[in-house]
Amino acid sequence: MVKPLHPLLRNPVIPAKWRDGIERPQRLLDQVEEDPRYLVDLAGMPIVSARQFTRDRIAQVCRLAALYETSPNLFPPLKGKILINAFYEPSTRTRLSFESAWHRLGGDVMSITDPATTGIAKGESLGDVAEMFNHYGDVVVLRDRNEDAVYEMLDGLRIPIINAGNGVDEHPTQALTDMFAIFKWRPQLLAEHVADGDKARIGIIGVPNKMRTVRSLLIMLSLYAHAFEEVVVICEDDHPYDQGQLEELQQEGLNIRVSQSLNKELPQLDVVYINSIAWVGDTFERMGEDLKLNAKSPLKPGSIIMHPLARGKELSTDLDNTEHNWYFAQARGAVYIRMALLTSVVQRVQHVIDTPDELLS
Ligand code: CP
Repeated sequence: MVKPLHPLLRNPVIPAKWRDGIERPQRLLDQVEEDPRYLVDLAGMPIVSARQFTRDRIAQVCRLAALYETSPNLFPPLKGKILINAFYEPSTRTRLSFESAWHRLGGDVMSITDPATTGIAKGESLGDVAEMFNHYGDVVVLRDRNEDAVYEMLDGLRIPIINAGNGVDEHPTQALTDMFAIFKWRPQLLAEHVADGDKARIGIIGVPNKMRTVRSLLIMLSLYAHAFEEVVVICEDDHPYDQGQLEELQQEGLNIRVSQSLNKELPQLDVVYINSIAWVGDTFERMGEDLKLNAKSPLKPGSIIMHPLARGKELSTDLDNTEHNWYFAQARGAVYIRMALLTSVVQRVQHVIDTPDELLS
């Protein structure tokens, strides 16, 4: 039997108008005064940990990301530069958003998606691979399930390396992406003094010592202790921290507690961050799948749901067409935040600043 033509194949695809359009990044731009010093300081800097960021640095990276988001025709500042994208563990968003970011900035990309296609398969050390990278590219983005790999490469590199996820340890550019989404939702959180009515309560459904996204996000949130009324970690374990991890966050003034009762917490949460992929040994597993969200969950009106993705059963697709869905906009923002970071580490911030206003549209 001849298969009928799918109905969608009869009509052109009209690009969906994204919920946040350019209005939200514009509000972020209005909130943060330009101060390129904090971006210029990133020139040549390896980006491995969320701990390398201050509030000023995060604000300026988010500002440049918002500028990129509102100015799609910006003169490509990375023409002639080469990115080495080395992903030794599966990825959809991080790898492709780094590549998309680099292409949009006018640079060229070399991508490795399997270490078995490099000398590593013949026993070559990461240090020696790093030495080669020095000659072939201008910046390296590395994802490796071994948390020490990024540090092993760091020692041999004379070009910047960006940690795109190292095992259970960190995922700093995902945390920047998360902060970018939160600040586009409520730019007032970027202010030096946040009025009580503007402060937010965030729930994190996840395990801080087993999820690199949660670990890095908490580090960044701790810089904004004055802006978040409370951070509620929702998981089955009543002490889901590595030694010293909770103390570090509390020393920054973060008001943080653990809860096991998702539905009891949800009506008070302005931001709900959910993730279920956790590292156990050198592999990952889904955790906390009893802590699930769906359209019937008692969510606060106007609250937003964030998820670093990939999603599992913890986040029902029946939330996709609700006002709470910020996870797709969050993933989209990853391109702009990575554009901002890459521009900074390869010393091209001045090119963007010098772009005439008429090209910023
Ligand atoms: N957020 C994130 O790290 O997704 P990927 O694993 O698809 O890169």
